Amino acid sequence: MDFLELSKKRFTAKKFDPSKKIPEDDIKKLKEILRLSPSSVNSQPWVFIFGSSDQAKKKIRPAVNDFNWPRTDTCSHFVVIAIRDGLSDKYLEAILDQEIKDGRLLSDQIVKEQRESRKYFVGLRDSAHTTLTWEAKQAYIAMTTLLYGSASLGINSTPIEGFEEETMDKILGLDNYGLKSVLLVTLGYDAADDHNATRPKSRLPLDKIIWEMK
Ligand SMILES: Cc1cc2nc3c(=O)[nH]c(=O)nc-3n(C[C@H](O)[C@H](O)[C@H](O)COP(=O)(O)O)c2cc1C
Repeated sequence: MDFLELSKKRFTAKKFDPSKKIPEDDIKKLKEILRLSPSSVNSQPWVFIFGSSDQAKKKIRPAVNDFNWPRTDTCSHFVVIAIRDGLSDKYLEAILDQEIKDGRLLSDQIVKEQRESRKYFVGLRDSAHTTLTWEAKQAYIAMTTLLYGSASLGINSTPIEGFEEETMDKILGLDNYGLKSVLLVTLGYDAADDHNATRPKSRLPLDKIIWEMK
């Protein structure tokens, strides 16, 4: 299916068929799709926490706004997207090491330039607050990748901001890992009574949102 068709077809699932589980092979593909998400200066400031058991769904429930419970209660899998509470020099060096290992940086000079330029761009965010905002923007890119990647595999999804981040962090013990949750995505298959599955899509017309420069 081409990307435009996929974009017309994907929708926000409001509930799922709880009896249908996503096959492990597809979950593996989604994890790889997430790993391949682009991010500014390849910063990859994220961790993706997958859950699928009843126990895991129950555990996160107190952090989820009640209007979103029909998604988390019935989904096959959920993914909490978390970002790092700051990008330390050690973390930036780990990214650089990986890039060297993957054969992207072919000389010591290029390694040096990459180290310096990434540090420069990360350093442009001059307070903890702006760094987190910048990292969260990257998380939204990963979320979008997950939504469309899922749709390409015939899996429905719900992007969710409707949860209490601090409660989620406590439940998952994210503070211990220097992480903060920013998004939640639920995944699964069509529920027969999901009214959103049959509603027409609604978007502003092209001439309201696309401007052409003369
Ligand atoms: C960042 C983000 C957060 C969202 N949070 C929620 C949410 O908490 N609960 C929910 O049911 N839908 C949520 N939505 C779904 C939007 O309402 C939906 O994408 C929008 O109405 C367009 O509909 P469509 O996704 O079916 O095309 C969210 C969407 C985005 C992109």
